Amino acid sequence: IRVRIHIVTIFPAFFDVLDVSLIGKAREKGLLDLRVHDLRDAAHDRHRTVDDTPYGGGAGMVMKPEPWGVTLDDVLGAAADEPFEGVLVVPTPSGEVFSQALARELAQERQLVFACGRYEGIDQRVVDHYASRGRVRLVSIGDYVLNGGEVASMAMIEAVTRLIPGFMGNPESLLEESHEDGLLEYPIYTKPALWRGLEVPPVLLSGNHGAVAAWRREQSIERTRERRPDLLDG
Ligand code: ADE
Repeated sequence: IRVRIHIVTIFPAFFDVLDVSLIGKAREKGLLDLRVHDLRDAAHDRHRTVDDTPYGGGAGMVMKPEPWGVTLDDVLGAAADEPFEGVLVVPTPSGEVFSQALARELAQERQLVFACGRYEGIDQRVVDHYASRGRVRLVSIGDYVLNGGEVASMAMIEAVTRLIPGFMGNPESLLEESHEDGLLEYPIYTKPALWRGLEVPPVLLSGNHGAVAAWRREQSIERTRERRPDLLDG
């Protein structure tokens, strides 16, 4: 096993789809061990309560720290006063923005734990406590708000697992993608050469590899300037 990924959630069923996707293939290949844990298994009252009202007042509910502590210590395989291995990823709209660079970084780890919060968030002490015992990353997948960390975790897990060494059948294809060189990918075409009156750019049929490479580079820069000028600032 190259990477072990744990997901802690009150909605384990969200992650059933991982079995049928590319990630299922990484699991079959033995590169990835992915385990989903139900936070409610650590809540022992009659209603298996994992949330409560916020101190100081305000709308919504806050996830209680105790079930998180019990579950994360178990998953991380470390007692409450011990350091832990790997990275604890907490998806939150108030985190650093996820990127291909962070995906590459996380793909180098042996263990990742995704802690999916719901409601208005998790008691701050959970992050503060684990940050004192190991590496914790608060990560947003973009400037919009989801109902919880599940969909965000799924997006990050897909971005990370496809970068695990040995996962991609053709690793060269990774190098030509959008964001790998800081630019958006150039337009791509396949047969037929004429479709609904639209031609494939003639340079791509020329057999001139140098000219093709130059055209693609030009298109990448032009596309990036139009759609994502922020990427060209650096
Ligand atoms: N949880 C809710 N919204 C989120 C976002 N944009 N990114 C990560 N986690 C979230």
